[in-house]
Amino acid sequence: MILEMKQISKSFGPVNALDDVTFTVGNAEIHGLLGENGAGKSTLMNILGGALLPNEGQIFIDGQLIEEMTIHKSNALGIKFIHQELNLVNDLMVYENLFLGQEITNRAGMLDIKAMIARSKEVLVRIKVDINPVEIVSNLEPSRKQLVEIARALLFESKLIIMDEPTTALTNKEIEILFEIMRSLRGHGLSIIFISHKMPELFAICEKYTVLRDGKFIETGYFKDINEQKATNLLVGRSIVETQEVQEKSDSPVAMQVAGLTSKGHFKDISFDLHKGEVLAITGLHGDGRGELSEALFGARQVIAGTVTVRGKHLKLGNIRDVMREGVGMVPRNRKERSIIKDMSILNNLSIAFFIAKHNKFFINKKEEVERFKRNQKITDIRVGNVDDDITSMSGGNQQKVIVSRWLELNSDIYILDNPTQGIDVGAKFEIYKLISELARNGKSLIIFSAEFPEIYKIADRCLVMYEGHINAELDRAHLTEVNVMYYATGANKEGINGKNFK
Ligand SMILES: Nc1ncnc2c1ncn2[C@@H]1O[C@H](COP(=O)(O)OP(=O)(O)O)[C@@H](O)[C@H]1O
Ligand SMILES: [Mg+2]
Repeated sequence: MILEMKQISKSFGPVNALDDVTFTVGNAEIHGLLGENGAGKSTLMNILGGALLPNEGQIFIDGQLIEEMTIHKSNALGIKFIHQELNLVNDLMVYENLFLGQEITNRAGMLDIKAMIARSKEVLVRIKVDINPVEIVSNLEPSRKQLVEIARALLFESKLIIMDEPTTALTNKEIEILFEIMRSLRGHGLSIIFISHKMPELFAICEKYTVLRDGKFIETGYFKDINEQKATNLLVGRSIVETQEVQEKSDSPVAMQVAGLTSKGHFKDISFDLHKGEVLAITGLHGDGRGELSEALFGARQVIAGTVTVRGKHLKLGNIRDVMREGVGMVPRNRKERSIIKDMSILNNLSIAFFIAKHNKFFINKKEEVERFKRNQKITDIRVGNVDDDITSMSGGNQQKVIVSRWLELNSDIYILDNPTQGIDVGAKFEIYKLISELARNGKSLIIFSAEFPEIYKIADRCLVMYEGHINAELDRAHLTEVNVMYYATGANKEGINGKNFK
């Protein structure tokens, strides 16, 4: 199939998700679509799939203008979408999922189960996947579910397959199989649009690339004509190199030592020192194991190997209470799900860590609580009406300040913050950055998990970049540029594990 998308524009209210984008994919071609988060890749693909209507632009399939693309039209043309989120129904069998909404019926109009199972087997064998068509989907590992998604795209006549980060859940061996399938599909004349942020994969499987940035078309060409560094520069745009006032923190004593930390299937052999007075950022892209690492450091996830040492003592990982008692303050990501206790008042939400760490019982002395609150309100500038109101009555930024205050009150030496400014407004962000810097200046040590470069750049003394479950680079302040972060976060370096340490 030859696909031409011309002058496509799409806005969501004030956001220009796509601005005059042209995208062309040839026959029997594997085409890598590249762009940072928010660049407009999914929006462009949703327009192609007929799920979104563009404000402007045309789509041509094999030279033919398609007016008003719909999901139905797109499907009928042989365009299949393999979504990043798994769209399978867990309680149904594999074959039922494969044929969902497009069941085979016999002449009497009854479901032809035999035919569907036989057809499912055929497809699964074709892609060399050993899954029983009558297996219930919920029994499958995530990687196997992803393979069922792929099988579904191949079940019916398809001419163009869109793969939105299909490899995140797959093991290396499964990725090899997927690549084999992709090459064989190309051999049969299919075109594939491959969205990935992993450079080694893009360079291995795609012949052409198109880069989007901030909703704009940047460049298209052949992978053989560029290298990983060039691709990174295209993704990020200009390289931001600003001279930095480098404050050397690595000479100060070690506050926390992480050695050989390993969680099967998530991260491997993570080792680093956190120094006194240091703000250490840990960053990476989707599927890098960072979320699981932060959980392990919080004591919320078991590890199979490795130690975390604070003041000469190994923390009992997998035990939140023990980690808290050693004075490690934590602000998990997803404040709404994990940090705030929704039915509890603002006051109690602030006090809860104090009670868990210092007492075994949740014993409340209202007067102490109010004093505690007032102390923190001054430091973190919490804006509040009535402290007895439910915490959910506050704005996101103020809620987050309450969560941070929990730990200030415990006088923690070490703070681990996972996405601390997620979903809060610019003003509150700025205040949290100020607080982080102040804590560091007062000799506290902080680990900040973040995916936002501007944030990291504002607050971090040093940055670890993760890729596929390992630390791929360590960047000191002088080397902390967006291009460097992207280069290592996409695995663009070929040196492999711990490829570079800029210190
Ligand atoms: N349904 C939507 N409503 C509002 N804004 C959206 C919507 N979908 C995407 N956006 C915005 O459009 C831009 C492009 O998003 P997206 O296409 O998802 O990027 P990508 O897939 O490259 O990460 C982003 O700024 C995103 O926030
Ligand atoms: Mg996307």
